[in-house]
Amino acid sequence: MTTAQPLDVQPTPLALLLLGREADPRSERGVECPGDLPAPSDPDLVERARAAKAKLGDKVFVLGHHYQRDEVIEFADVTGDSFKLARDAAARPDAEYIVFCGVHFMAESADILTGDDQQVVLPDLAAGCSMADMATAEQVAECWDVLTEAGIAEQVVPVSYMNSSADIKAFTGEHGGTICTSSNAERALDWAFAQGDPATSKVLFLPDQHLGRNTAVRDMGMSLEDCVVYNPHKPNGGLTTEQLQNARMILWRGHCSVHGRFSLESVEDVRARIPGVNVLVHPECKHEVVEAADYVGSTEYIIKALEAAPAGSKWAIGTELNLVRRLANRFADQDKEIVFLDKTVCFCSTMNRIDLPHLVWTLESLAAGKTVNRIEVDPGTAAFAKLALERMLALP
Ligand code: 13P
Ligand code: SF4
Repeated sequence: MTTAQPLDVQPTPLALLLLGREADPRSERGVECPGDLPAPSDPDLVERARAAKAKLGDKVFVLGHHYQRDEVIEFADVTGDSFKLARDAAARPDAEYIVFCGVHFMAESADILTGDDQQVVLPDLAAGCSMADMATAEQVAECWDVLTEAGIAEQVVPVSYMNSSADIKAFTGEHGGTICTSSNAERALDWAFAQGDPATSKVLFLPDQHLGRNTAVRDMGMSLEDCVVYNPHKPNGGLTTEQLQNARMILWRGHCSVHGRFSLESVEDVRARIPGVNVLVHPECKHEVVEAADYVGSTEYIIKALEAAPAGSKWAIGTELNLVRRLANRFADQDKEIVFLDKTVCFCSTMNRIDLPHLVWTLESLAAGKTVNRIEVDPGTAAFAKLALERMLALP
């Protein structure tokens, strides 16, 4: 019999909350919805959403991330990946209300990129992101102290994934770095390495270790040895000074709980089940999964790849299930077989928080002149976060 070894990690500073049932303003994921929501069984929900949206007219602009439910996507004025939606939000200065059907960090980014007179609303405040919660401002400040202590902070440029809080984006802007998304991570890293002496410059990549590693190794020809993982729950990130000095990519120990489910076995299994299948995965998947796949890309890339796919082709997709299901239905009559890469259900639970009752409640409240669930980033944080976001939008 084996005895359990004590875990060599500190618990996350953010307590797990029952979604939408308690409040923790420090977390991306848990605050109560203050409203009187319509019942999900109300047969008039679709009609009510239509009527409220029509009443609001051009005053409202509804954005829908690709991982949203079908019932919500139906009311989106535009759909997109997080990069496209950030640009779309910034391009609508005339809309009084931006209703963001996505998760909290996306609504924060929209608030940062839109005018002070515009109000950004997230239909359910409990729609956070567990990956974004994996890097807190305190932890990142401590990490910077570790890098300073190791004598390398001057060589390090932070690159933060869009999936991070406004605080982390502000840290990034203040320290000369940029934001990236899964559709421009390689360009963001090229930019970051070009900021200093290419022979010695390093990147601190936050908070998704997989996107950072996959981009560096798969797209930019670095080796796995060029990458180290900084664990915020261990003293000095669990790294020696020598390891930090030798690394080119310092990857934050964060991950997406949805994409983390896909495994090498699921790739092998689908290849055995469906001969000739093309495996297409999101770069938030683990490195071994990405290495075993045929194609890798953001949600927007996945959609374009399937649009361009020839009739008769077969595809196994490794990303969130709402999107995969929608694509399977959309292309069913074009003789494109599209299956989900994993055998078990894999929705993003926080993306799924936004449903028709929350959307109806939001739109009806706005139509009645009452703003609910407004997402407002404080001006000090927003200024530096905007700097980092604008560096991303200006990437070649
Ligand atoms: P994008 O492909 O839109 O960047 O989305 C990935 C994701 O996980 C959003 O939360
Ligand atoms: Fe966060 Fe992953 Fe959900 Fe995207 S899919 S919102 S990264 S938990």
